[in-house]
Amino acid sequence: MTLADKISDLKREKKAIILAHNYQRPEIQDVADYVGDSIELSRKAMDEKKAEIIVFSAVDFMAESAAILNPEKKVLLPTPGARCPMAQMLTVDEIKKWKVQYPLVPVVLYVNTLASAKAYADVCCTSANAVEVIKSLSADTVLFGPDRNLAEYVERKTGKTLVSIPEWGFCPTHLLFQPEDVQILKMQYPDAVVMVHPECSLEMQNVADFVGSTSQMCRYARETDAETFIVGTEEGILHRLRKDNPEKRFVLAYEDAVCPNMKLNTLEKLYVALREEKHVVTVPEPIAKKARKALEKMFEITN
Ligand code: 13P
Ligand code: SF4
Repeated sequence: MTLADKISDLKREKKAIILAHNYQRPEIQDVADYVGDSIELSRKAMDEKKAEIIVFSAVDFMAESAAILNPEKKVLLPTPGARCPMAQMLTVDEIKKWKVQYPLVPVVLYVNTLASAKAYADVCCTSANAVEVIKSLSADTVLFGPDRNLAEYVERKTGKTLVSIPEWGFCPTHLLFQPEDVQILKMQYPDAVVMVHPECSLEMQNVADFVGSTSQMCRYARETDAETFIVGTEEGILHRLRKDNPEKRFVLAYEDAVCPNMKLNTLEKLYVALREEKHVVTVPEPIAKKARKALEKMFEITN
C-alpha cells in the first residue's frame, strides 16, 4: 500500500478533505481534493459542509483563514513551522502606528498576514482580487500591507494611493526574479509568453504579458494559444501547469524560485498529521471574530 493510498483510506475513515496550495509538492497536489490559490482555498474551506477535518497543506496564514472562516471544522497544518515570512512582516504595533498617522483611511490587508493583524483590517484581499477590492472603496488613499510590490501593482491599476505598511514588505521568493533572466530566456524562446505574480517587482511586472494570482496564471495558460510560457512564481506551480497542459512548455523565470516554507510540508508529515489529528490550527475567538469580518467583507465585494 502506498502512502497516497493510506492517506485516501484515512480521509474516508476520518471524513477529511485535503486542500493544497498551488506551490505544494507534486505528490501532495496529487492526493489533494482541491488545489488552488489562496482565495479559492479560503472559499473551499468556508463552504465545506460534509468534512469534519480540513488538512490545509500550505502555510500558517492560509490555514488560519480556514479556521476563522469555518470554526466548526478541525483544521490541520501538516507542518506547524510552515510560516510565510511576508505575513510575519506586519505586526499589530506597526498597523496601530500607521492608523494614528492616517486616522480616517481604510486598512486593506493582503491575506498574507497573521490573524492578529487581520483583526485590524477593514477588509482583506488576495492577489486575485486586490484591484477589485480597492476599486470598490470610496476612499482614494488606503493603508495597504504587507506586500509593497502588490501595492504598486494595484496603484497602477486603480490610480489610487496605497500607503505601504510596512514601507518595505516583500516576499523573499518572488524577490529572486529579475528581468535580465527573462531577457536571456526570451533569446532561447522568442515566442514565449511571460506570466508573473504581482508579488514580483515592478520591473518584472513590466516585462510580463500577464500578471495574476497563481490560479489566474493556470487559467491564462489554459486559455492562451502560446506554446511556451516563462513563469515568474514559485516552482510548485509547474506541476499543475504541466499536468493541465501536457502539450505546452513551462520554464521558470528563475530556476531556484522555491518557497522553503511551502516545501516544509511533505506527504509523510501530512499522513502523520491526519493519522494523529495533530497540528490543529486555532485562532482565539476575539481575534477570529474581527478577522472574520474583514475576510467576509472581501467575499461580499468579490462575489
Ligand atoms: P496566490 O493567492 O496567488 O496563490 O498567492 C499566494 C502566495 O503566497 C503567493 O506567494
Ligand atoms: Fe509567503 Fe512568498 Fe512563500 Fe507566498 S511564496 S507563502 S508570499 S514566502
